[in-house]
Amino acid sequence: MKKFTSLILLTVFLSYGCSNSPHKTNKIVTGVDYHSFANTDDVVITHINLNLSINFNKHTIHGRNAIQYKLKNPDAKEMILDTRDLTIINISTPNGRGGIIPVKWHMGQKDKMLGQALVIELPPTDRIIIEYLTSPKSTGLQWLTPQQTSSKKYPFLYSQSEAIHARSWIPLQDTPQVRQTYSATIKVNKNLRAVMSAYNNPKADERFRTYYFDMPQAIPSYLIALAVGKIKYKAIGPRSGVWAEETLLDKAAYEFEDTEKMIQAGEALYGKYDWETYDLLILPSSFPFGGMENPRLSFITPTVLAGDKSLVSLIAHELAHSWSGNLVTNATWRDLWLNEGFTTYFESRITEVVKGKGTKDMEAVLAYQDLVAELPELSKKDQQLALDLRGQDPDDAFTEIPYTKGRMFLDWLEHSFGRTNFDEFVKSYFQHFAFQSITTENFISYLNENLLKKHPKTVTLKQVKQWIYSSGIPKTAVIPHTQIFTTIDNITKQWINKEINTQDLPTKKWSTQEWLYFLNNMPQEFNYDKMVELDKAYNLTNVKNTEIAHVWYLLSIRNNYQKSFENMRHYLIEIGRRKLIVPLYSELSNNETNRKWAQQVYQVARPGYHSLAQATIDKIFEK
Ligand code: BES
Ligand code: ZN
Repeated sequence: MKKFTSLILLTVFLSYGCSNSPHKTNKIVTGVDYHSFANTDDVVITHINLNLSINFNKHTIHGRNAIQYKLKNPDAKEMILDTRDLTIINISTPNGRGGIIPVKWHMGQKDKMLGQALVIELPPTDRIIIEYLTSPKSTGLQWLTPQQTSSKKYPFLYSQSEAIHARSWIPLQDTPQVRQTYSATIKVNKNLRAVMSAYNNPKADERFRTYYFDMPQAIPSYLIALAVGKIKYKAIGPRSGVWAEETLLDKAAYEFEDTEKMIQAGEALYGKYDWETYDLLILPSSFPFGGMENPRLSFITPTVLAGDKSLVSLIAHELAHSWSGNLVTNATWRDLWLNEGFTTYFESRITEVVKGKGTKDMEAVLAYQDLVAELPELSKKDQQLALDLRGQDPDDAFTEIPYTKGRMFLDWLEHSFGRTNFDEFVKSYFQHFAFQSITTENFISYLNENLLKKHPKTVTLKQVKQWIYSSGIPKTAVIPHTQIFTTIDNITKQWINKEINTQDLPTKKWSTQEWLYFLNNMPQEFNYDKMVELDKAYNLTNVKNTEIAHVWYLLSIRNNYQKSFENMRHYLIEIGRRKLIVPLYSELSNNETNRKWAQQVYQVARPGYHSLAQATIDKIFEK
């Protein structure tokens, strides 16, 4: 028996070692997308034309995807597409006389993480038409009941394709290395309007129930996006507007009225905004993210509608992706930091122009503290900027590493070369790689040629590689700091030592960021009594700002301050943004009584959450 096993092992080992397929070798091959079945060395999609009918009763989309493609290998026999939970109805190709002829195809094996390959025999044309149906469980779509919207009257649908969910509503090459233009015809129910990551015409007539879209710039699949709801448009600038349910429209238009200023700040730094229009879509509160950079139409959580514009860095972030991510795209999810690190750096530069250096620095410190707190929870391997995500869901790659370590790497380059030199480099980088998907290694060699060698003896290639391929934060890092928070530290000390009364804390002048820092950095001596005092003086249990409420609830859990639990319950049921709710569930699950309470809340809240949030929180309670 033993001999038999080792024989099998030997065969497995040999076939493993001998195979030429990068999917099977031990060493990571840069530029290979381990999260797609697509045979992109043979054939690449250049354009897709979608025809989708949205069925709110069945929670399905009946779709037709007419694909145009180009052979890279003239001998290619098949095209492999990515799908997940799709029912393929039929596949055909035009016969050149206005009709169609069927094309042969079959499905590969199901993979829990990646979905299922769709293998299509290439016809002698350059077009394939796929008719298909999505599943109500599609991981890239959330179907909301009227009750889950702010109007409470009409249903809502939105897509979230990043990282690998486009394949659950469109059969395509679901890899960021392939860029395609797209056009679409979307049929919806009466009273509803469809918008996409394309030009959205506010004047389109709702009575026809059919909307047409055109995205003339080639984009990766994860940026294809759709939303359908009872939404209206309000212009906020010469090339910008907000789309939202009517109840939120004016509030959103006010909150984000500085959008044009942000676009101009971005253009002044790194070159022309290349996408013509920039609109914001305010989603229902179950949206699992803060924002998503769908081109021409960022998707935005309503939880940043604070009323005082204090959380608008999120807009700066999603807008910055118009350069870092949408224009220059990570080739694989291993290179995610090229998207998110560059964007976080760029976001901070826009924030500096629009909100001032104080806000920029405070946000840098807050993010740095988040990174420091998260580091111990991450394995050494997950602390590298260039990630090895083989066998891992790319949704799990979105830690503080690509965002904040990535941004600190760029802060360090800026600091070392000086702003003028670094800005010139970044601008040329966006120009050079515009509308391309690139790997970390493409970036390193461009950096080496165009910055390191131009200003010798400033930083070494070895130092750069340490940032990218090592864990932790290099010693040379520029640690964010601001005097504004030193002042808060001093006030906190005096308050804890009873030199300042609770009601005399100088909070009138505090920004959201100062409140967050104050509450996030309570010393050991902080306790239940202090919570009571703070709440009495500042009514924090009823605070409307969702970020401040979040840290207040965390403190409430840690100090067993039951008074805020009822509001926390409403918060957890109302909001589906992972960043705001997951830490609360985690903290609650640390203690038996709280855990039971949280499970009851979750039972009510879960049906309203996006499947991504459900998956994350299910894991907390499975433990
Ligand atoms: N591209 C991300 C959203 C995303 C994250 C999609 C994870 C898929 C998986 C977006 O640009 C983003 O980074 N959003 C952040 C906001 C930001 C200010 C850090 C978020 O949603 O919290
Ligand atoms: Zn981002």
